[in-house]
Amino acid sequence: MLPSPPTIGLRLGLAAIVAALCGAAQAGRAPGVAAIAAAHPLAIAAGEEALGAGGNAFDAAVAISATLAVVEPYASGLGGGAFWLLHRAEDGRDVFIDARETAPGAARPDMYLDAQGKVVPGLSLDGPLAAGIPGEPAGLVHIAERYGRLPLARTLAPAIRIAEQGVPVHTRMQLGLRFRQSAARNSPAFMAVFYPGGEVPTPGALIRQPDLAKTLRRLAEQGFDGFYRGPTATRLVAGVRAAGGIWSAEDLASYKVIERDPVRGVYRGVTVISAPLPSAGGIGLVNMLNILDGFDLATLDGATRKHVVIEAMRRAYRDRALYLGDPAFSPPPIEQLLHPFYAAGQRASIRLDRATPSAALPAGPSDGSEGRDTTHFSVLDRDGNRVAGTLSINTWYGAAFMPPGTGVVLNNEMDDFTVREGVANWFELIGSTANIIEPGKRMLSSMSPTFLESERGVAILGTPGGSRIITMVLLAGLAWIDGADAETMVSLKRYHHQFLPDTVAYEEGALTAGEISQLEARGHKLSLSPRAFGNMNVVTWDYANGKVEAAMDPRGRAEGRVY
Ligand code: GLY
Repeated sequence: MLPSPPTIGLRLGLAAIVAALCGAAQAGRAPGVAAIAAAHPLAIAAGEEALGAGGNAFDAAVAISATLAVVEPYASGLGGGAFWLLHRAEDGRDVFIDARETAPGAARPDMYLDAQGKVVPGLSLDGPLAAGIPGEPAGLVHIAERYGRLPLARTLAPAIRIAEQGVPVHTRMQLGLRFRQSAARNSPAFMAVFYPGGEVPTPGALIRQPDLAKTLRRLAEQGFDGFYRGPTATRLVAGVRAAGGIWSAEDLASYKVIERDPVRGVYRGVTVISAPLPSAGGIGLVNMLNILDGFDLATLDGATRKHVVIEAMRRAYRDRALYLGDPAFSPPPIEQLLHPFYAAGQRASIRLDRATPSAALPAGPSDGSEGRDTTHFSVLDRDGNRVAGTLSINTWYGAAFMPPGTGVVLNNEMDDFTVREGVANWFELIGSTANIIEPGKRMLSSMSPTFLESERGVAILGTPGGSRIITMVLLAGLAWIDGADAETMVSLKRYHHQFLPDTVAYEEGALTAGEISQLEARGHKLSLSPRAFGNMNVVTWDYANGKVEAAMDPRGRAEGRVY
């Protein structure tokens, strides 16, 4: 066994742990230390275990992802999907691993509408009809086989162990169980695992997931076939169909991970590497930065700076609604959307003294804490390999449904499709026909695992937060470009605009009293959010001093979770 690399992990109560290895940064651009930032200490420990066993950042990513499925069952898991952005140090290759869910073969554009064409409330959110075909298990196998050094039996071991021994309920887990109690009543297997004795468990109570441990074992032993064929697949399909879902064995057996080229852009000398479709993240991020490139943000007063950032957000989200969806079904105008000339046109319509009403932009389709669902982690290993991983089952506890005998919580990611044109989804996003439901199609996402690279160094970032993910990554990215460290990036107060609703949502402290009155005077509608935005996890590496920093969002740390 190789000696354990020095690893930086975040522990509860620690804002960030900083390690410096002077001189190492310049030596072949390898940091010489490893760093992990993730939403749960057991996931970080699993990543450390993989690195300690001689694994690389990709092995750590597999171990972290699988463990998050067990310890954050409300946020991601084997019943959901994932995007991992990988950087391989030996050849400098960046690759985006798309393990997004797909619509089942029997899915139809009108499957969530009643006979009058109205959306049936809850149908795309609760129960097995809301679930896309999961991609995360295939993604874990893909990364292990193509990029890792360790067998899955090794990297999945911590997740299996924790699923068998139990995870103590923490506050987030409990809040989510309260929120999903009514939907969960339709799934006896889900109830049996998460509501012992039929009640919401108290913090500290142990939740054991023996069926999930068995499912993970089959995945570890048999790879793809251990989940998508054989006993696990049989139970998944039987459980889904018995409860009114439409999955087939063929849907699972034919699932494919897709390797994609990330979206790239350059802003003030910083290279942005981010998520391509079926995520709107990279296109939105680069488009917003292209718009902002025409302003000298550093010379603007706070209110004006925020005004132009909001106007860039508005325009990018308008295009998200209008054009974006799975590129295999409706090729979008990506080159146009990423082109600086296009951004220059968008910029020309921004007035410094006045908000642009969203309704005045060329026509689009007519008509929480946001960090409790989905999860993000960032990893850097001592050789300079990196992973930014954002994983999801969509909203809290996904569909609140578990096929009996699997331990797998199914996603409700079908709600990310345009269920009906002009009708907003859970995240108040609207969409066009580019994102309508079609068999085998991947629903449009906002998950934005991202790398920033410059002469200064590297930032690895991302966050949960539904539609707000892209703007959170933008604000953190702008801060890093201005010289901020990882802790500052995750702690920033956030604001957000997504075209419709035509409102700037903001966290307490994101806008000063003066900025509020100046933005309102320009015509912006402002809405103070009662909940925090996101749960960002960032790793940065500074070439000049070799400093590696890992930082976890204080919004996650502040919730007094019991581990
Ligand atoms: N389910 C949230 C997203 O993918 O954007």
